Amino acid sequence: MHMTYAAITGWGKCLPPAVLTNADLSTFLDTSDEWIVSRTGMKERRVSHVPAIQLASTAAARALACAGLDASELELIIYGGCSNEELVPNSSSGVQIELGATRAAAMDINTACTSFLYGLSTATAMIKSGVVKNAVVIGVELITRYMDWSNRNVAVLFGDGAAAVVLQASDEESGVLGSVLGCDAEGREALRVRGMGCSYAGLGISYGDTIWDFDGPVIFKRAVKGMSEASAKVLAQCGVTADQVDLAVPHQANLRIIEAVAKYAGIPMEKVMVTVEKYGNMSAATVPVSLVDALEQGRVKPGSLLLMPGFGGGLTFCSLLVRWGSRVTPLGVSGRELPPLTRTALEIVNEYRAEQDPHGRSLPGLMAPTFVEQRIR
Ligand code: UT7
Repeated sequence: MHMTYAAITGWGKCLPPAVLTNADLSTFLDTSDEWIVSRTGMKERRVSHVPAIQLASTAAARALACAGLDASELELIIYGGCSNEELVPNSSSGVQIELGATRAAAMDINTACTSFLYGLSTATAMIKSGVVKNAVVIGVELITRYMDWSNRNVAVLFGDGAAAVVLQASDEESGVLGSVLGCDAEGREALRVRGMGCSYAGLGISYGDTIWDFDGPVIFKRAVKGMSEASAKVLAQCGVTADQVDLAVPHQANLRIIEAVAKYAGIPMEKVMVTVEKYGNMSAATVPVSLVDALEQGRVKPGSLLLMPGFGGGLTFCSLLVRWGSRVTPLGVSGRELPPLTRTALEIVNEYRAEQDPHGRSLPGLMAPTFVEQRIR
């Protein structure tokens, strides 16, 4: 029987240049480099000076150039992430304009940190079923814009960034071979950003004035379970054993979570991509950025078998098994660059803090979770 695959033929990342260090965070939070490194493995993260659509479009343009695919040929854009300039119109339509990809369908997927992997699975299915012949799948976040900078439990963990891959219909057995997707919704209360969405309409809350409900230890345990079980399942489904996996490219929320998942899966840490020390948790962008770093470092070889486990708000979880194709070098390079930086990361964050501090936090709709939860239900 003839089988169509969705080969990954292009890849590109866009990391905003402004670097926020643990020392920067210690200037306004009761935290320390020692705490952050020992609990999370993070040393620095990026703060964007441009909108999320620009990060996404730059990553996508680089991925298209890498694939040698003209934007006019593109049939589908998936914008994976939970950072949006606006909800209507969606963000992928903004990417379409930026790329000049006038023939492309455009959809946003928000499953929080797993958005890129859910998007990769979706686009693969759409190519295999013949709905489209190619797609660009983006993982992008601009979390610094709606971070609660007064909360050390979350403010030290996240960063901004974007990366994208191009998928193209192919006869060669490559691309996503198997996907296990799931959602541990009983844990959905463990990660909520209060302040964004219809439930908060009419309460006088301005965008970015958030309060985060974040139960780190609960998410930690459920993340390890979800990622580990999904990984075991996808390997079994594809008839592959752990020792056949050449490289794991997991979601980067915490070095300790990555180590626990690798141990459970039986994959040694030498075969695990770790970028959390450089970029923190970029939510939907962590897996594609780590994948691009792996390619740039020569850690992905022709025919490599890659395991990609993820988890995020919802609490969504997943694991994808990917067979790399024959090409690990770009066909072309995009000239697209971000505008130059005029402020440091700390200066940008201090501007956000100044906007947040005097107001917002004390608004009744944000302060009383029971009130908001009634509105949500
Ligand atoms: O990608 C999806 C989102 N990511 C996640 O959900 C991450 C999952 N969770 C985690 O990675 C970990 O649970 C954390 C890194 C968030 C926290 O690590 P932990 O080992 O679970 O620490 P903890 O929450 O139990 O907190 C330990 C202590 C607490 O003090 P007490 O109560 O023991 O006195 C916290 O108040 O550390 C304190 N703490 C901090 N101290 C210095 C919390 N944040 C900080 C901080 N600096 N930034």
